[in-house]
Amino acid sequence: MTEERYLTFALAKGRLAFQTLELFEKMGISCEEMKDKKTRRLIFVNEERKFRFFLAKGPDVPTYVEYGAADIGVAGNDTILEENRNVYEVLDLGFGKCRMCVCGPESAGELLKHHERIRVASKYPNIAKDYFYNKKHQTVDIIKLNGSVELGPLVGLSDVIVDIVETGSTLKENGLQVLEEVRPLSARMIVNPVSMQMDRPRIQEIVLGLRRKLEESDEKFDQ
Ligand code: PRP
Repeated sequence: MTEERYLTFALAKGRLAFQTLELFEKMGISCEEMKDKKTRRLIFVNEERKFRFFLAKGPDVPTYVEYGAADIGVAGNDTILEENRNVYEVLDLGFGKCRMCVCGPESAGELLKHHERIRVASKYPNIAKDYFYNKKHQTVDIIKLNGSVELGPLVGLSDVIVDIVETGSTLKENGLQVLEEVRPLSARMIVNPVSMQMDRPRIQEIVLGLRRKLEESDEKFDQ
């Protein structure tokens, strides 16, 4: 019999990765080495199940999965939509919930209402473009930033921003507010299309197992 190959998982670094590993532990899949915050190792192995895990920057997760360097990935649907890679989205993991919003000073609300040609700063230029051009049919100038996007309207770079809002405290502390909601966000599991063909039973077992655990915790929450 040929030996089972490793299934490789790319997890977006940070809180999402920890929440994903917690969920895996509920299914009896653990990777103790990965919990050691001091380790400099990049790849972690569960020999028993033949799983390999690695952590990557969120926007790189869909890239690893599209090229098949990882069979499965977990990242926010903000980065998945922005990167627009050829991957299957198979599961909403339900955590990492937040919202993609158009934000700015209260006065910018009028500019949005009257479909003015405004400047929009964002770390997510593709999502911003899709929202303004395809959903709102409003012509805007998109300016790509790499972080601290709230600065845009504060220093006069842009009229509004398209960004993630979680608690809303960054906006509040900077005198900005949500003007429109673009879409809700959460962590998603993605799969390489070729891996899905080659390892369908193993991948389906993982997806179904995770779905069951998520339903169980939803039921507990509802009670
Ligand atoms: C994200 C996002 C907002 C902030 C929202 O930034 O871009 O700035 O968090 O969170 P809140 O609603 O809870 O305040 P992040 O911390 O990732 O840093 P960055 O802006 O430098 O990318």
